[in-house]
Amino acid sequence: MPSGEKLAARYGNGAIGFHWVMVLLIVVVGVLGLLHDSWPKSTQSFWINIHAMIGLTVWALVIARLWWRRTHTPPDLPPDVGEFSRRLSYPVHLLLYALMVVIPIIGIVTFIWHGRVFDFGLFKVDFGVAKNRAIFHPTEDLHGYLAYALFALIGLHALAALWHHFVRHDGVLGRMWPTGDRG
Ligand code: HEM
Ligand code: HEM
Repeated sequence: MPSGEKLAARYGNGAIGFHWVMVLLIVVVGVLGLLHDSWPKSTQSFWINIHAMIGLTVWALVIARLWWRRTHTPPDLPPDVGEFSRRLSYPVHLLLYALMVVIPIIGIVTFIWHGRVFDFGLFKVDFGVAKNRAIFHPTEDLHGYLAYALFALIGLHALAALWHHFVRHDGVLGRMWPTGDRG
């Protein structure tokens, strides 16, 4: 950990960049996921591939973010943050990270065992796996349930951030906000 990092009241630009870029991508990938069954049959594979491409980007970013975080410890919470929030925030963040790592992996299994081919635009990756309902059915369900759990947790997490900002006025949202106070 670089010296002084832990004393800073605010998250660094790297953490803020990772956080908000991933928020945007997760919203897009989540909405595309929910729309899977709404596309006309002729364009369904196209949209599932777009969903997969963005989901893979989320996965690559979360791995990069966790790797980067090893040497960039988050700042201590502001002193006026209550005991309840202190105890809850770490496990909630941990669970958010865990879901961001696991959901794409189960998506990849679902995608491949559905016999789909990754189309990266310039090249394609075909694992040559035959469609296997016994595998992709349960993994598709699990992928969806975990995504719903992620959405619920994100809702709670965002509400908590807004509560800190508008009710507690304790600067928690400002530490992660791109244009927030420098502490
Ligand atoms: C954090 C990232 C991701 C989120 C939040 C997410 C979310 C979702 C959601 C909400 C659904 C619909 C579930 C339902 O209808 O019950 C879905 C379906 C699916 N996702 Fe993802 N997903 C992510 C990453 C990925 C990745 C990386 C892949 C593959 C490489 C993938 C492949 C699929 C497939 C194959 C389906 C089923 C599509 C079908 O109906 O045939 N997802 N996803
Ligand atoms: C896709 C949606 C989101 C995900 C996956 C997500 C995930 C995370 C994670 C993993 C952290 C912990 C960062 C770390 O210490 O390593 C975090 C922190 C934070 N997030 Fe989010 N977040 C999302 C949306 C939001 C939204 C919409 C808001 C605001 C309304 C928000 C406000 C914050 C704040 C203020 C922190 C810092 C909390 C603290 O100081 O302890 N997040 N977020």
